[in-house]
Amino acid sequence: MVDVILGLQWGDEGKGKIVDFFAKDYSVVARFQGGPNAGHTLYVNGQKIVLHQIPSGIFHPGIKNLIGNGVVLDAVTLKRECASVAALGVDVKKNLFISERAHLILPTHRALDKAAELSKGEQKIGSTLKGIGPTYMDKTGRNGLRVGDLLDKNFTTQYIKLRLKHQRLLDNHNFQEDISAWETEFFEAIEFLRSLNIVNGEYFINDAISSGKRVLAEGAQGSMLDIDFGTFPFVTSSNTVSAGVCSGLGIAPQRIREVYGVTKAYCTRVGSGPFPTELNDETGETLRKIGNEFGATTGRPRRCGWIDLVALKYACMLNGVTAIVMTKADVLDAFATLEACTAYQIDGKETAQMPFQLDPAKMQPAYRSFPGWEQAITEFRNDSELPQAMQSYIQFIEEYLGVPVKFVSNGPGRDQLIERKG
Ligand code: GDP
Ligand code: IMO
Ligand code: MG
Repeated sequence: MVDVILGLQWGDEGKGKIVDFFAKDYSVVARFQGGPNAGHTLYVNGQKIVLHQIPSGIFHPGIKNLIGNGVVLDAVTLKRECASVAALGVDVKKNLFISERAHLILPTHRALDKAAELSKGEQKIGSTLKGIGPTYMDKTGRNGLRVGDLLDKNFTTQYIKLRLKHQRLLDNHNFQEDISAWETEFFEAIEFLRSLNIVNGEYFINDAISSGKRVLAEGAQGSMLDIDFGTFPFVTSSNTVSAGVCSGLGIAPQRIREVYGVTKAYCTRVGSGPFPTELNDETGETLRKIGNEFGATTGRPRRCGWIDLVALKYACMLNGVTAIVMTKADVLDAFATLEACTAYQIDGKETAQMPFQLDPAKMQPAYRSFPGWEQAITEFRNDSELPQAMQSYIQFIEEYLGVPVKFVSNGPGRDQLIERKG
């Protein structure tokens, strides 16, 4: 049996914290897509940790953590991250497993990412420049190198062949940067990677399921960044929706039980692309300040706005969300009035469906207003303590979406999560 935790917006919904909280009830936590473009923040014993490649169950000693075949892996980031979790007492040789089918991010993939973004000018995606797009392109283009290839004695020959191919592309882009230092780091890191548990991920996970163990699949990015259903082309290069769990881990759809969709009580986006409810004003600035909305991977300021229920309902449909986890509710504590987008006005017509293209010039969000609760909620631990104005805001959202909001997060800490009984 597999449960899933994934993001319903444009990423950074607080998935890391939620996975860390839920993990204690599972035997395996597995990442199924994305790569080091992710930045999942956890607080362990009050200390802040940001994970990019390692699943967020790693701080629970009895839990196995799998990097699935659907992930693209940067050995350099992984080595660095292993060192930082090992310093906190984690035994990665015991609790971390990597699918031999996961594709490797090469130094030239990172260079290609940079070159592609530069060539797009104003139209750039706002990529994290971690090499995600070019690595997935080599996967679907059937050129890429996989973790399992590291165990082949011809790995270096294969690497040089692919590097040559990339060099020609980089020359076309007139890319001049010297990447030899990245290569040195890469070869040191793959030596380390070879010493970790490289496994057949699909048997690893299916054996666990067959023996009655509970598996938690951890999404990266968010549904609106999905390669098929997100705001294309301003998306990432993987399927971030729950369908990606099957192809990214090698499990059958009927194995999936709960799909926990994580959403902020408002909305953010980092990088380019349409964002209907974005607030380019003082309110947006206040959300950014109170919510500390700066990217966990790149440090970029996140764009902020009100919750977008049209996009959320679309994400619930795509993922088959069975329960919602609402994070960062405390960030709204200070607001006298809250808004929630309930429809889009496009060319004078109102719709509650996600259109083919979100063209900011042609659309206007329609809002419903709510009174704020104007009180601090971070110390609360029980549903019954939550202010009535907040309950009304949440009830409207769950009725609109047709999915219960089962958990409310009221701070970044491990214990700041309230289960709603209603
Ligand atoms: P992820 O990528 O979905 O794991 O989210 P990030 O870690 O990139 O961003 C979420 C940020 O919000 C992190 O800094 C978390 O520590 C913080 N956070 C998570 N939940 C809450 C919450 O309920 N309230 C507040 N104030 N911060 C939270
Ligand atoms: P987590 O898992 C927020 C965004 C980038 C850019 C677009 C494409 O922490 O929620 P890419 O590097 O994939 O080519 O970038 O996607 N993006 C994220 N935004 N959270 C993330 O991950 C993201 N991963 C990628 O900013 O707009
Ligand atoms: Mg993040």
